[in-house]
Amino acid sequence: MLKRRDILAIVLIVLPWTLLITVWHQSAIGPLLAIRKGTNDGTETRHETGPATDSKEYCSQDKDIVEVVRTEYVYTRPPPWSDVLPTIHVITPTYSRPVQKAELTRLANTFLHVPNLHWILVEDSQRRTPLVTRLLRETGLNYTHLNVETPRNYKLRGDTRDPRIPRGTMQRNLALRWLRETFNSNSSQTGIVYFADDDNTYSLELFEEMRSTRKVSVWPVAFVGGLRYESPKVNAAGKVYGWKTVFDPHRPFAIDMAGFAINLRLILFKPQAYFKLRGVKGGYQESSLLRELVTLSDLEPKAANCTKILVWHTRTEKPVLVNEGKKGFTDPNVEI
Ligand SMILES: *[C@@H]1O[C@H](CO)[C@@H](O)[C@H](O)[C@H]1NC(C)=O
Repeated sequence: MLKRRDILAIVLIVLPWTLLITVWHQSAIGPLLAIRKGTNDGTETRHETGPATDSKEYCSQDKDIVEVVRTEYVYTRPPPWSDVLPTIHVITPTYSRPVQKAELTRLANTFLHVPNLHWILVEDSQRRTPLVTRLLRETGLNYTHLNVETPRNYKLRGDTRDPRIPRGTMQRNLALRWLRETFNSNSSQTGIVYFADDDNTYSLELFEEMRSTRKVSVWPVAFVGGLRYESPKVNAAGKVYGWKTVFDPHRPFAIDMAGFAINLRLILFKPQAYFKLRGVKGGYQESSLLRELVTLSDLEPKAANCTKILVWHTRTEKPVLVNEGKKGFTDPNVEI
């Protein structure tokens, strides 16, 4: 049985705490509640059962908001250029198609978060298109805009192998040539070269991983080769000794284009190293360049010894435009 004195003691101890918690709670979630209550003025009579049940009805049932974290800081895009960080030269081949602008926009939005990034965008076209020119100008990124058209129906007489030049190859090679003509091999310019196609998703962490590349760094890539991810095999000593792939793991470098970065100095010191245009079987494109630059033992595993996925070969679904018909339905002057 509680005596009167006990009840008084409980009230005196518990009440101040209850009040304190209520006040703290209100102030912490105050701004959020204020927004929620916005529609709850005199005109909205149906919601007059009270703000607590009202807001709970429309979100999770019995979860109280206990903490609201608000981060307030000022930032700029792109981040300020640093005099000490190596520049990451990102090479992206691109070609005209309905989703091109969407893909490049997504890529630019990622790159805007990366310090000291220089985007080398190479169009597979006869001339630089107004769409890409405008897009680059408006991003605020540091960029170089190049173009070279892959010849159609390229064929060597008497050559029975696949006559086509793989998409992006001539464009990547032009960017390599540009780097060699722009930077002197004995200059102190530090840089990293990365081939970033426009149909992948890149985490920001990836760029900070590759920035310390001394020769060639490597990491896993998701959604390639019919697997959740393909990866270099890394031994207990932290050295790459092979490839966790199903498709032809005995390739010299069984790695996707998005799975490695190269130190600029290596590109400049080996001016003969290019992607091979002809007679390269599918999946051997990457090997054709890397074998000119390094051996397996030179590779530097990144992304926590290749245990983290930081890049995904997502690809954007090709839009169905059947209702455009032969002559087109929408205004062709509207850029998409
Ligand atoms: C990678 O593995 C090596 C060798 O086991 C180890 O020394 C190193 O700390 C590891 N690196 C990371 C980032 O886990």
